Amino acid sequence: MKISVIGMGYAGAVTSACLAELGHYVTGYDIDHRRINSLNSFKPQIFEPGLEKLIEKNCEIKRLKFQHVDDSDLDLGEITIITVGTPSDPNGSPNLEYIWKSVEWATEHLQQNSILLMRSTVQPGTGDLISTRFCENKNINYISCPEFLKEGEAVSDFFTPDRIIIGGNNSDAIEKVVDLHSGISSPIIKTKIIAAEMIKFASNAFLATKISFINEMANFCEAWGADVDDVKEGLGLDHRIGKSFLNAGVGFGGSCLPKETRAFTSLASNYGIKSNLLESVLEVNEYQSQIPFRIIKDVFADMNNVKVGILGMSFKPNTDDIRESPSIKIAQTLSKLGCQVSCFDPVSNQKSEEKLGSTVKFETSIENLTTNKNIILLMTPWEIILNSNWHQIFESMIEPKILFDGRNSLDPAIMKNIGFNYIGVGRGISSSHLDHLSW
Ligand SMILES: NC(=O)c1ccc[n+]([C@@H]2O[C@H](COP(=O)([O-])OP(=O)(O)OC[C@H]3O[C@@H](n4cnc5c(N)ncnc54)[C@H](O)[C@@H]3O)[C@@H](O)[C@H]2O)c1
Repeated sequence: MKISVIGMGYAGAVTSACLAELGHYVTGYDIDHRRINSLNSFKPQIFEPGLEKLIEKNCEIKRLKFQHVDDSDLDLGEITIITVGTPSDPNGSPNLEYIWKSVEWATEHLQQNSILLMRSTVQPGTGDLISTRFCENKNINYISCPEFLKEGEAVSDFFTPDRIIIGGNNSDAIEKVVDLHSGISSPIIKTKIIAAEMIKFASNAFLATKISFINEMANFCEAWGADVDDVKEGLGLDHRIGKSFLNAGVGFGGSCLPKETRAFTSLASNYGIKSNLLESVLEVNEYQSQIPFRIIKDVFADMNNVKVGILGMSFKPNTDDIRESPSIKIAQTLSKLGCQVSCFDPVSNQKSEEKLGSTVKFETSIENLTTNKNIILLMTPWEIILNSNWHQIFESMIEPKILFDGRNSLDPAIMKNIGFNYIGVGRGISSSHLDHLSW
């Protein structure tokens, strides 16, 4: 099939390359010339394992190309997929500015009987509105087919999704979108447009809830002396609960979970609903992201003299995405309070520097980052960070040599043995460390 994809960010670049890999002829469009140029030279501006190779291979066999929306030779093909951003407004409600512009542009150029497929995450009700306002009078079929990829594993997720959700009003259009996915053997759920939109929002809100739940349990574990990792094991083996998304830590970030959970809470009042549960999920998440601040406040008499090294800036490993990353939030808090903050990330130093400016220092190696620091905050468990020489790091630090493991990804016994004042999240051993520390 001939396909066009509008919006070449994380979701769009992966969708375009993977659809080309399935055998379709794909053109990716964007309003940003730099993005288009870098994609056409096989160097996407985003870091996603496996993506670069897939782009190069499919461009070379002429199944994939990238164009600016203002180019003259437009042919959007049988299906146009929207993957533009849907950020939050300051009050938390979804900002659909990019959606309206891209839909307007696409429906102006689409042929009759073609399909407009929404892969961006839009609030329930948006699809029916787009369908009546932009599609019906032009005989264009609207389909909601939400994106569920996980950054860092997006390419493999595309080919082996847990499910494919196709929401639409026209059965021929739905079957065509089923064909678009041929080659992928995953369950396909066909629904109304609004149900497809709701499934996407509810999935993210549930995952956010699971993370905040285990984080709240971790705080109890901390107080009562249990290790939350043992609790996770016992909880997760109950198949009604499951182990995934039960890792305690400094909370969730990224472009999806915070945004969609916030959207529910901010939209609730429009419908006379009180979203008590999801408001608490966000509150717990905010509280978790400030754990390092509370540790530093408890241990050090004067924030101004504290030398802090932050290891990992992206919201999780294997991506350069720093949107709503707990590392960014804590770097901002600590530098405002006068701490001397340095940061390191294997791929997102530059993006983080653009966001944080000169308030913090950036280091290009783990060794430089950890040298002469009172406290190290391990915020993102990149392999390269976990496999560091921890003996050397210990030697390079200055007292009280605190290692805060914000993702519980190191072995506390080994770290304590090296000599660190190790603090995890809900590992039941941290409070005793804090008791004897005062700097
Ligand atoms: N990033 C993820 O992991 C992920 C996962 C699931 C769903 N989603 C959803 O996918 C959507 C896109 O997210 P993203 O992270 O890829 O966003 P992004 O901000 O990385 O990329 C959006 C792209 O759209 C382009 N754009 C904006 N307006 C345009 C227009 N009128 N025409 C053409 N291009 C335009 C921008 O220049 C940018 O390149 C969002 O709704 C998001 O919630 C993202």
